[in-house]
Amino acid sequence: MDNRIEMDRIYAIDCIDGMKKLPAESVDLVVTSPPYDDIRDYRGYSFDFESIAFELFRVMKKGGIVVWVVGDRIRNGNKTLTSFNHALHFQGVGFNVHDVMIYQKKNTPFMRSNAYTNAFEFMFVFSKGKPRIFNPLKTKTKRNGLELLPFNKKSDGVNKKALGELKMEKTLTNIWPYAVGLGGSTTDRIAFKHPAIFPEKLAEDHILSWSNPGDVVLDPMCGSGTTCKMALINNRRYIGFDVSTEYCEIAEERLRQSLTDSVAS
Ligand SMILES: C[S@@+](CC[C@H](N)C(=O)[O-])C[C@H]1O[C@@H](n2cnc3c(N)ncnc32)[C@H](O)[C@@H]1O
Repeated sequence: MDNRIEMDRIYAIDCIDGMKKLPAESVDLVVTSPPYDDIRDYRGYSFDFESIAFELFRVMKKGGIVVWVVGDRIRNGNKTLTSFNHALHFQGVGFNVHDVMIYQKKNTPFMRSNAYTNAFEFMFVFSKGKPRIFNPLKTKTKRNGLELLPFNKKSDGVNKKALGELKMEKTLTNIWPYAVGLGGSTTDRIAFKHPAIFPEKLAEDHILSWSNPGDVVLDPMCGSGTTCKMALINNRRYIGFDVSTEYCEIAEERLRQSLTDSVAS
């Protein structure tokens, strides 16, 4: 195999080997979800998390962002807290924990008789130094225009009011809710041949937030290719690695379909 990694391609390769082929400081953004706690059957592939974090730090550009989507399993009634271990390890190799965000799953089946149904995963946002880019996503506000707004209470305890302007939109919070499953995560039926995809919109929202057109987006464990597809649609360069040839074929098919759709429209 040629030793160079080209842009806009998916590689069936262990991500550590793949990243070793990338030059230092060559990636702007990573949006990925690792296998954790053997929660899915990934055909028994090994997952050397410590080396992955180390290689990620090497390939990220200064100011680059790694979005790491991870949850926890329950073993013998005990949450594993693998997510926290990962976050602490990333901090240990030199990343800043820029934010701890929540991926809320809008539709989850009831799962535990003695606890509330888990409906979220963490989205750790690690940065290599100060983030280079932040394009905040906005949402429309319910009220806008001029209103009498309360301001600082003084020592007399009386609330003062003054005319102020409520904006038309505000920046999102760091809890992002998504519908999951067919029609929620994606409408690509083929993607569901992979057991653990995340929503296209989740990948897209991070891509828009932390990168600009033309930037290099890597998913070192790309599975069905969700991040790569959303990078392509949003005019970023992408690189995808997955150790499973079968998953890479799914990813390539989704990317082909996406290109066909964009030509047709
Ligand atoms: C949670 S899934 C990612 C799913 C992806 N975000 C999507 O939307 O389809 C994790 C992926 O990591 C892959 N994987 C596990 N160990 C790997 C390794 N050492 N190198 C590359 N990929 C690996 C698995 O094959 C699996 O597809």
